[in-house]
Amino acid sequence: KKVVLAYSGGLDTSVILRWLQTERGAEVVTFTADLGQGEELEPARRKAEMFGVKEIFVEDLRETFVKDFVFPMFRANALYEGQYLLGTSIARPLIAQRQIEIAEAVGADAVAHGATGKGNDQVRFELAYYALKPDVKVVAPWREWNLTSRTKLLEFAEAHQIPIAKDKRGEAPFSVDANLLHSSSEGKILEDPAQAPDEIVYQRTISPEAAPDVVTEISIDFAQGDAVALNGVALSPATLLTRLNELGRDNGIGRLDLVENRFVGMKSRGVYETPGGTILLAAHRAIESITLDREAAHLKDSLMPRYAELIYNGFWFSPERRMLQALIDASQNSVTGRVRLKLYKGNVIVAGRESPNSLYSARMVTFEDDEGAYNQQDAAGFIKLNALRLRLGGAIGRRGGAL
Ligand code: ARG
Ligand code: SIN
Repeated sequence: KKVVLAYSGGLDTSVILRWLQTERGAEVVTFTADLGQGEELEPARRKAEMFGVKEIFVEDLRETFVKDFVFPMFRANALYEGQYLLGTSIARPLIAQRQIEIAEAVGADAVAHGATGKGNDQVRFELAYYALKPDVKVVAPWREWNLTSRTKLLEFAEAHQIPIAKDKRGEAPFSVDANLLHSSSEGKILEDPAQAPDEIVYQRTISPEAAPDVVTEISIDFAQGDAVALNGVALSPATLLTRLNELGRDNGIGRLDLVENRFVGMKSRGVYETPGGTILLAAHRAIESITLDREAAHLKDSLMPRYAELIYNGFWFSPERRMLQALIDASQNSVTGRVRLKLYKGNVIVAGRESPNSLYSARMVTFEDDEGAYNQQDAAGFIKLNALRLRLGGAIGRRGGAL
């Protein structure tokens, strides 16, 4: 029995690897991806070798992650529950997709992941697996084994010569997931939402208080809804996001302390850092503000919460997500131009926007003489007809909008 395991090289997935081999008698194939989490991948390869794994896949997926997952999502300005930029949610479908491709390539009929039975990630991985390989067998060790506590897990690791980093001996202060878009921290000391997170929770941003007292000015160029250049220099998607992360980090941008609703029903408290993504969202909204028709903009905005919820809940590979994506992508044809921004102590401030496709007409909107561009008398009829139903209601006693 061959199983393709999404393997980070960390303690938990190492225990899972060994458990699949010893308790399930499986031949494990490991897959380790660089999504920009900022960890070396070679240690994961060496550990897999040490466990006798014969087929080891280690891949740098940063460019496809940003180009084919992060950027399409940012075309929608997606935010879950008004605030979460979906940094973990958007990475799961890519990992799952590569796992399935590898399973097909090596002739494995099963895949395994290290997500718990309590969270969103199990749902995201498995919905993607089933969408891409309907007959796949899924192994979710956290839902299946009897290692029901941290202590039992550590005992298993010790019994199987799995190295345990010092800070993992029950002292790890929280659970982290990281990639090029964000890092998230949950659990342990963060489980009390009344308590502010300690500064040590933050991994990729300095605090706004510690950020410089001077403004950093940048420009971002967009072509059809995607960022393509920083300060006039064309960059690949992953390089551009990496640079924005550095600029965000140095200016204390993109921190979020959130209590959110998980798909499985419970509330959870997370601390997120999305420095580059926070800058990108502000910039994208700014370029859309001059290039999108009002109703096109409002329509895509009204669908945004649905789209964000689909991604959060793990339905990236679903007909409804593809339908919404087609609509969002079509809206972006004209979303080309340059946005100038000021980064300052946790803030992203729009300083200018320009586009060859701009719908903004200074002549139309001016408070000065518009030389006949707009006839103000037209507005009288426009308002009168809009008021018609309000006046009819008022006439029978429902004044001021009373029902
Ligand atoms: N709550 C966030 C989400 O559902 C982050 C999950 C973090 N995952 C993790 N394995 N620590 O998208
Ligand atoms: C997990 O449960 O494995 C992490 C948190 C989540 O998936 O929501």
